[in-house]
Amino acid sequence: MKVTIIGAGNVGASCASLLAQKDIVKKIVLLDIIEKLSEGKSLDISQMLPMIQSNTEIIGISNDYSKSKNSEIIIITCGIPRKPGMSRDDLVKTNAKIIRSVTEKSIFFSPKAKLIIVSNPLDVMTYVSYITAKVDSSRIIGMAGILDSTRYRFFLSKKLNVSPIDIQSLLLGGHGDTMVPLYRYTSVSGIPIKEFLSEEDNNVIIEKTKKGGEEIVNFLGTSAWMAPSASVVKIVEAILKDSKRIFPCSVFLKGQYGLKDMCLGVPVILGNNGIEKIVELQLNQKENNLLKRSAFHVKNMIKKL
Ligand code: NAI
Ligand code: 2OP
Repeated sequence: MKVTIIGAGNVGASCASLLAQKDIVKKIVLLDIIEKLSEGKSLDISQMLPMIQSNTEIIGISNDYSKSKNSEIIIITCGIPRKPGMSRDDLVKTNAKIIRSVTEKSIFFSPKAKLIIVSNPLDVMTYVSYITAKVDSSRIIGMAGILDSTRYRFFLSKKLNVSPIDIQSLLLGGHGDTMVPLYRYTSVSGIPIKEFLSEEDNNVIIEKTKKGGEEIVNFLGTSAWMAPSASVVKIVEAILKDSKRIFPCSVFLKGQYGLKDMCLGVPVILGNNGIEKIVELQLNQKENNLLKRSAFHVKNMIKKL
């Protein structure tokens, strides 16, 4: 199993580190445009291997995509992150150019790879990668919903004073202020959330979740990477272990949820083939309106681009 990570910045290097700790991949190639960056970070991560009891080999490369040849999975984390005062959408032009060129080179050397996109604005970058790669849409997976739902679960666990492990949730829509966490599909150890919290009180948590990324940007001056990279590793694990786990991911839609020609977050079954199935839910009017609003926002950005 070979996994390539493009971008050895905060998210990329953390992905390499977390993945190495899982010991489920034979080789990780960490590639960046900046000379020596990925070499240095790879060496640092590699020196943990005896301690973490992992056999994963980690190789740092500057720009030479031939070293990524025949990767099973390619994780795209390159581009610029936002700074305080910026929205994810402000990154669109700069990152689209980067994602186009990186996707072309990645697919050239690994024509069978599944691509996991992380760069923001996530749903638009996933779309750009899909259009550029010209491969089946089941192989292009945008990571955001796992992160957003884990933030929602964490904030709920604090509010309810229960273990975050016991909270299940589902989230649809774009990665941004229009994300749609679903009250009706949230539960604590199988007990519907309405037994614990009114919809109004839950809305306060949802608003906090929507601002979850921004809160960290304001603390750090750049965006989060620990929870994002852990979310990426969930996708990699589900693919490599063919576990058929259901996660919200951004995928190219062909009429599902009444939406097409765009990428947006929906629940999917993940396995060896990438996205094995898009799970379609019977949304009520209110949920559907929120999803359509989110889709409208993403589609507008795609059109502008
Ligand atoms: P970073 O600035 O720490 O790292 C980005 C890396 O990409 C840098 O090392 C840079 O040299 C490299 N890079 C730039 N252009 C490149 C190219 N053409 N080829 C190869 N490498 C290139 O940024 P960070 O924090 O790692 O974030 C990366 C991206 O991921 C940002 O767009 C950020 O907004 C996004 N992000 C998305 C999340 C999500 O939930 N989908 C969560 C966290 C970050
Ligand atoms: C986040 O939500 C930056 O999109 C990233 O933290």
